[in-house]
Amino acid sequence: MAFDIDMIKGVYTKMAERVDIARDIVGKPLTLSEKILYSHLWDGKPTKALVRGKDYVDFAPDRIACQDATAQMALLQFMQAGKSKVAVPTTVHCDHLIQAKEGAAKDLVHANNVSSEVFNFLESVSNKYGIGFWKPGAGIIHQVVLENYAFPGGMMIGTDSHTVNAGGLGMIAIGVGGADAVDVMAGMAWELKFPKLIGVKLTGKLSGWTAPKDVILKVAEILTVKGGTGAIVEYFGPGATSMSCTGKGTICNMGAEIGATTSTFGYDESMERYLRSTDRADVADAANAVKTYLTADAEVYENPENYFDQVIEINLSELGPLLNGPFTPDLSTTVGEEMSEKAKANDWPLAVEWGLIGSCTNSSYEDLSRASSIAQQALDKGLKMKAELGINPGSEQVRYTAERDGILDVFERLDAKIFTNACGPCIGQWARYSDPKNAPKNSIVHSFNRNFAKRADGNPNTHAFVASPELTAAIAISGRLDFNPLTDKLINENGEEVMFDEPTGWELPPKGFEVQDNGYLAPEEDGSNVQVNVADDSERLQLLTPFEPIGDTITGAKLLIKALGKCTTDHISMAGPWLRFRGHLDNIANNTFIGAVNAFNEKTNFVKNQLTGEYGGVPDAQREYKKAGIKTVVIGDHNYGEGSSREHAAMQPRHLGVAAVIVKSFARIHETNLKKQGMLGLTFANENDYDLIQEDDTFNFLDLNEFTPGKQLTLEVVHADGSKDIVKVNHTYNEAQIEWFKAGSALNLIKLQNA
Ligand code: F3S
Repeated sequence: MAFDIDMIKGVYTKMAERVDIARDIVGKPLTLSEKILYSHLWDGKPTKALVRGKDYVDFAPDRIACQDATAQMALLQFMQAGKSKVAVPTTVHCDHLIQAKEGAAKDLVHANNVSSEVFNFLESVSNKYGIGFWKPGAGIIHQVVLENYAFPGGMMIGTDSHTVNAGGLGMIAIGVGGADAVDVMAGMAWELKFPKLIGVKLTGKLSGWTAPKDVILKVAEILTVKGGTGAIVEYFGPGATSMSCTGKGTICNMGAEIGATTSTFGYDESMERYLRSTDRADVADAANAVKTYLTADAEVYENPENYFDQVIEINLSELGPLLNGPFTPDLSTTVGEEMSEKAKANDWPLAVEWGLIGSCTNSSYEDLSRASSIAQQALDKGLKMKAELGINPGSEQVRYTAERDGILDVFERLDAKIFTNACGPCIGQWARYSDPKNAPKNSIVHSFNRNFAKRADGNPNTHAFVASPELTAAIAISGRLDFNPLTDKLINENGEEVMFDEPTGWELPPKGFEVQDNGYLAPEEDGSNVQVNVADDSERLQLLTPFEPIGDTITGAKLLIKALGKCTTDHISMAGPWLRFRGHLDNIANNTFIGAVNAFNEKTNFVKNQLTGEYGGVPDAQREYKKAGIKTVVIGDHNYGEGSSREHAAMQPRHLGVAAVIVKSFARIHETNLKKQGMLGLTFANENDYDLIQEDDTFNFLDLNEFTPGKQLTLEVVHADGSKDIVKVNHTYNEAQIEWFKAGSALNLIKLQNA
């Protein structure tokens, strides 16, 4: 059901062939990351050494995972490709749309009521196109993937930034935008700049209160939130092999918080134990047979500075428990005295109101069992909870097993709330306040990954600190941010001083994992008769219609907006409350460019409508141009479209009738997204020509009928006074991408080719 052992064996056969070739070509021993990358080249066997941080390379991932929020637009697009099935094994996981309020039973019913149309849509599309579907309550995408699909040496992409979690089981797993996932689902290659490599050597051994979470909190402190950008972080050394597989998952998970492309660990006995425990002995056997390919060549770890672009060493025996935050995951503080001083100096509330254990980062059986050992001590030693405690188990399998083993009962006897096996507070799905904007200043501690302002509860005054699950439990019980469980005493109900002993726990359930209904729905073998239903009056979902080709004549196009300075994908398609409409292109299009600054008045969402001469919102002006059958042009500054790779930032302007985006420079992913949607993404040959563009300009493309790779295009820009400028623009379209433009979109072309 869950995984395809033949597919995995196929990957291992390819690895054995390709890694040896790659080693010869590169001319030196290979890291694990290189082995996985070179064995997943789209073009087959390696033919040349790829340059890190420079070469753009096409890859062939083994799997795709999507969560319910991002899957909506991804699947709507995939439906346009004219395929009967996804080309690569794919799963959809319903975990982001479930609010934590009263506890799992009631919250899940509520979520199923509120978001039933989205869940039903995802389920029916999955059923139709051969996609595995994990129902609401089945678990958090990355825990479910680790338990069921991740495998050493594999390559996976997922429409969620914490897809990287699967590095804990030796994968190269990378978070991508929906458009990239759709390409791979439709049978196309996936492009990535060949990453740089950071090696992290772990010596010593974790003990006492120190957990895998502290390793990544330390790495975040060292590298900061940007230090991993464009790089894969590869962990190795005796400290790495001494850690559990799910602990490795925690470390890889938060690689997203340092901006890393992904993180990974070499195959070892902890992974083998995890595979066998999660009913995948055949994967473990297959991995054992190719062990040497599933870790770096020995020489690499002996002299890492010769093979990695940067090497960091951390001695786990010297590492202590950390609290990172508030508002950023790279601000590390040691528990106890240092926290006490920092909190006073910065006016961080010392009283802790909530402890939250869960998220894709820390919701494994081991995490719950170690935290429950602290909760059990509180019960045994007569301590009462000073803060509230909430738990989100990572999957139904973890929850069921933890319940069977009495772990959840321990938490409940301490009055903790067991929330749904879902993201819950980690994604702001937490009904903590009725009016979060005006809620009081407070501190919370959680075992999640992200802690920026408002993330969990919408309250800008909540100071969220990130910690291991066991430390989260101890701090919640003590109610104090500066509590040091290694040295501090607490007063129990009888007025006695008591101390916690070190946490203990089980790496894996001693009686094995168990589950009754894991929440998985396998798709139909032949889904051709499955109906996908979307109500005509739905606010949240809308089936897509193929974009009409823009054509090779663009004359009389009007300027929609000349954006000043930073114009990220968030400026083009704002997030926040708009995310509710991410499956409804026309509704979400009402946020198009509302965050972009108009260069002529430095205001947001206030542009001149050339048809009426009036000023107003960008989407309103654009809809009027569209109604009048007039194409439009958007002008932008440097690095236009940076930020999250969300495909909406290209689809919305396209949907509303923008024909071309002309900028000083593009963020590459967004530029590609524009190409995929069949639009023109162009750059000024002379970037000072940006200054020529006036508010009332009209654009005539003079030679679009000669659109060919490497050839500049010429624009006539007609100003209000009748004067004209000729502007040369560059483009990076190759032959195939020009075909996308001609067909109206990449998906239109795939559909034509399938017809
Ligand atoms: Fe969900 Fe939070 Fe992970 S939103 S996927 S639990 S980062």
